[in-house]
Amino acid sequence: MTTEPHLFSSLSLRDVTIPNRIAISPMQQYVAGKDGLPTAFHLQHYGRLGIGGAGLIFTEALAVTPEGRVTHHDLGLWSDAQVEPLVPIVEAIAARGGVPATQLIHAGRKGSVGRPWEGYNPLDETTAARGEEPWQTFAASAVPANPGWHVPAALNKNGIARLVDAYAAAARRAARAGFRALNIHAAHGYLIHSFLSPLSNRRDDDYGGDFARRTRFLLEVTDAVRAAWPAGLPLFVRLSCVDDQEGGWTLDESVALARLLKDLGVDVIDCSSGGLGERTTTRLIARPEGYQVPYAERIRAEAGVPTQAVGLITTPAFADSVIREGRADIVAIGREALLNPHWPLQAARALNHDPNFSAWPPSWGWWLEKRARSASAGRASR
Ligand SMILES: Cc1cc2nc3c(=O)[nH]c(=O)nc-3n(C[C@H](O)[C@H](O)[C@H](O)COP(=O)(O)O)c2cc1C
Repeated sequence: MTTEPHLFSSLSLRDVTIPNRIAISPMQQYVAGKDGLPTAFHLQHYGRLGIGGAGLIFTEALAVTPEGRVTHHDLGLWSDAQVEPLVPIVEAIAARGGVPATQLIHAGRKGSVGRPWEGYNPLDETTAARGEEPWQTFAASAVPANPGWHVPAALNKNGIARLVDAYAAAARRAARAGFRALNIHAAHGYLIHSFLSPLSNRRDDDYGGDFARRTRFLLEVTDAVRAAWPAGLPLFVRLSCVDDQEGGWTLDESVALARLLKDLGVDVIDCSSGGLGERTTTRLIARPEGYQVPYAERIRAEAGVPTQAVGLITTPAFADSVIREGRADIVAIGREALLNPHWPLQAARALNHDPNFSAWPPSWGWWLEKRARSASAGRASR
């Protein structure tokens, strides 16, 4: 009997026990209805993931203000009216034991664009004709994310203070909706990342310049969210651990920031990378399986804080090795779970943790086990 952590060992963070080390990574769907409200598709999607058996299931990012959306079709948590409609999603996730989790976003200078499959271009008169009016975006500095994209307005101090309050208010709403883990999105070029990176933050006030000033906005948001979010529930922060661009944010800075976040009561650093400008990314980094795991490994070792690894983790054996080798505490699966929402259940089978379908809904598992038995009996008699 081994006590070594592995993919199907539980993990306790504050008062929450996550039944295995697999998270579903936050993935925006861009199919919200009017006013950032969920649709039947969301319930189907998160219900499927709930059945799929991941221990921790993040919904897509929820916008903290209307201007904090990426597209007109994003879910939001900027008003009390958005709490109740999220409850069925929380219940669908939790129905088979997954921990329901969500993420808070302000898209900053990467907002006011069309949906990815509609071109992912800045909104303009053409999109306005189909009901998608552009809006004024905000960021650390008036520097667009990509050539030809909206020029954001640099936030002033009042605007920053209002947004810190908006994150805290959204965190309170997330708790009311029943979410049991929360992730602050500070990655992928969205508002908070635009403050962290020297490539997008050209300010010379208290919120720009050296490391302490560039990290100040995130630390203020984290402090306010930690105070608003129940003390018994874990808080994650997703970082782009490197910018993947010359002269950008570095892994050394991520390690130093992770230490500060841990001191503010952050329980897990969720280690992603890149995305500062979608179309200027130089892709300095090769992308084999688990290419971002080294960031999670180094932050875990050097900042002494649990980490979540994400990015092209697609095979059960590799995911298990990340946990067994102590490279991260949780592995998050993104696109692979779109391809196969039962990935965690199938991984449990592949790793011989659940050879007999006992972790599946009994109304399916009984049949699948019987079918597997008769198939192997058939093979044996041949
Ligand atoms: C459709 C889609 C939507 C995404 N939306 C978010 C999001 O809301 N928040 C976030 O932090 N990352 C988002 N991401 C990034 C994923 O969470 C994940 O980090 C990325 O896809 C890499 O993991 P994967 O290779 O397992 O897909 C999104 C990715 C995809 C494919």
